[in-house]
Amino acid sequence: MIHRPRRLRATAAIRELVAEVSLTPANLMQPIFVREGLSAPREIMGMPGVLQHTETSFLTELDRALSAGVVSVMLFAIPESRDPEGSAALDPNGILNRAVRAARAHVSDHLVIVADLCLDEFTSHGHCGVLGASGAVDNDGTLEAYGLMALELARAGADLLGASGMMDGQVGHVRKVLDQNGFDGTGILAYAAKYASTFYGPFRNAVESELTGNRKTYQQDYRNRTESIRGISLDLEQGADIVMVKPALCYLDIVSAAAGISSVPVAAYLVSGELAMIESAAANGFIDRDGAIWEALYSVRRAGAQIICTYWAIEFAQKLKG
Ligand code: PBG
Repeated sequence: MIHRPRRLRATAAIRELVAEVSLTPANLMQPIFVREGLSAPREIMGMPGVLQHTETSFLTELDRALSAGVVSVMLFAIPESRDPEGSAALDPNGILNRAVRAARAHVSDHLVIVADLCLDEFTSHGHCGVLGASGAVDNDGTLEAYGLMALELARAGADLLGASGMMDGQVGHVRKVLDQNGFDGTGILAYAAKYASTFYGPFRNAVESELTGNRKTYQQDYRNRTESIRGISLDLEQGADIVMVKPALCYLDIVSAAAGISSVPVAAYLVSGELAMIESAAANGFIDRDGAIWEALYSVRRAGAQIICTYWAIEFAQKLKG
């Protein structure tokens, strides 16, 4: 026998020597939920270990991220009240803009602050955009709102805007509005391949979503791959600074394809339902929790993502450090 691949697996040291991918705290981006009007942090159904934070307790999360070596956070905000236009998203004093401003003041430029650029947390119908006369999500009307929202988030001090709404032309429009208003330094993390996924279920609890129905007219069909390549290409053409694939685990082929064609860093989002699956299987004693999480994180890296947006970011960065 000439080939004995087991030689390279014989000891922990040799496995370390030939390990192809690495994971560092800087690869991990921590999503954080800030809930307006909350007096104490609150648990989220379906997301064990993840909390809705108050406007002060989320600052402690930023400190924890910093000391774990995590260099980026993704902020989502839940407003006290909603309307069909999602107007709280455009209010300079709305909860997300307040949170971004407070975060910036708290951490200076030591953390990359990513702000979710989408209307779904702010609309009473729960859709990611405004509705047209027919009741369908109006693409171009929504772009107008994204442009205004982007400006406020940029003014508040966000480094990157997480364009997650899946409207056509959103990256190009937001880029143009930012540039015309002197915010050429504010970047866009484009959700370039975002699928209409059942795995967002627990997140809808996290943001108290009022959505009925689904997002299939704007998010991608999970049967498709070419559609993702197109989405990634369009976002690159329109000036995306980072492209993201979401969810991650059912879509590692898409992460890999993105890494193959992208001229900018690729991110992948390990979403709430993926967290729920692992946490609940582990809570039942069916699988080893940490082993499963490491495997998931390294698999996303192996598929080609440089950045992993994950609710386990701070905890696993701490483990990497320690
Ligand atoms: C929408 C948004 C969603 C998630 C992040 N941003 C939900 C959706 O598209 O319905 C899901 C994240 C998760 O499930 O962890 N702006």
